[in-house]
Amino acid sequence: MQLIDGKATAAALRSELKTEIAELRSRAGRAPGLAVILVGEDPASQVYVRNKERACAEAGIVSLPYRLSADATQEALLTLIAELNRRADVDGILLQLPLPGKLDAQACLLAIDPAKDVDGFHPENVGRLSLGLPGFVSCTPAGVMELLRRYNLSPAGKKAVVVGRSNIVGKPLAMLLARPEPWANATVTVCHSRTTDLARECREADFLFLAMGRPRCITGDMVKAGAVVIDVGINRTETGLCGDADFASVSPRVSAITPVPGGVGPMTIAMLLKNTVCSWKTRCGL
Ligand SMILES: NC(=O)c1ccc[n+]([C@@H]2O[C@H](COP(=O)([O-])OP(=O)(O)OC[C@H]3O[C@@H](n4cnc5c(N)ncnc54)[C@H](OP(=O)(O)O)[C@@H]3O)[C@@H](O)[C@H]2O)c1
Repeated sequence: MQLIDGKATAAALRSELKTEIAELRSRAGRAPGLAVILVGEDPASQVYVRNKERACAEAGIVSLPYRLSADATQEALLTLIAELNRRADVDGILLQLPLPGKLDAQACLLAIDPAKDVDGFHPENVGRLSLGLPGFVSCTPAGVMELLRRYNLSPAGKKAVVVGRSNIVGKPLAMLLARPEPWANATVTVCHSRTTDLARECREADFLFLAMGRPRCITGDMVKAGAVVIDVGINRTETGLCGDADFASVSPRVSAITPVPGGVGPMTIAMLLKNTVCSWKTRCGL
């Protein structure tokens, strides 16, 4: 069984980006810039934002922090986004979700310039993904695909099952896997809470992707022998973080698996940096 080390892969990717930024910085005339908007004081969001800003600094990306109080108005938020859309030194705009109170997240995401939408949540980028056009892809599913590539695990021609159909993980991941491209070309089934026989669907998967948010829900008897299991789930339990797979019973049966923590999680921030660098290069004509 191969353990897919997302922590090491993300560190390698971040170091490659750091080198690339250092090499291109003088030609660009400036460092890449990521605006990070945090509204309110949700402790989990504060931790995520801090981690993102630290990763930016380490790679040589300037993070521009914008902190708004929980009672900020929709208008104030939209005015800020409009200003960041205009600014030449801002390559990416990250709006940390969820938003507190009555703020309309969809309206705010729609206001972000798709060319600066490094989270890949804007409907234009989602549409581009579904049409197979270039655009920003949501960081967690993009991180999953990067892990497959770097571990030489090709789902081409194989049966892939994605459990979860959210807009930020399950749905874009299913679209990426079905793309007519090397390292995709999978035959994809999407499962959700109304799937009649989840165990049967999972047992048919050569590649099983879990994005349910249900701690240790998928057990060894639900997995095909020799399958590749990518566990996106991050669940807080009394005994610490765990994934959607019951690692103890699943890992002995499979050919490769991501641990939780240390699997897909660290890839998400690395892909955010990658998208920001990509935007920077395009905007600076590099
Ligand atoms: N950086 C990262 O690694 C990262 C990033 C984002 C999310 N996550 C983690 O990934 C997990 C999923 O996140 P999300 O935002 O996609 O969650 P979500 O929006 O709650 O979606 C969960 C999906 O799982 C399905 N589901 C729930 N229980 C199920 C069951 N018993 N059987 C079959 N399907 C079931 C739901 O089906 P319905 O649609 O029918 O409700 C839904 O489509 C969470 O643990 C989250 O913490 C990790």
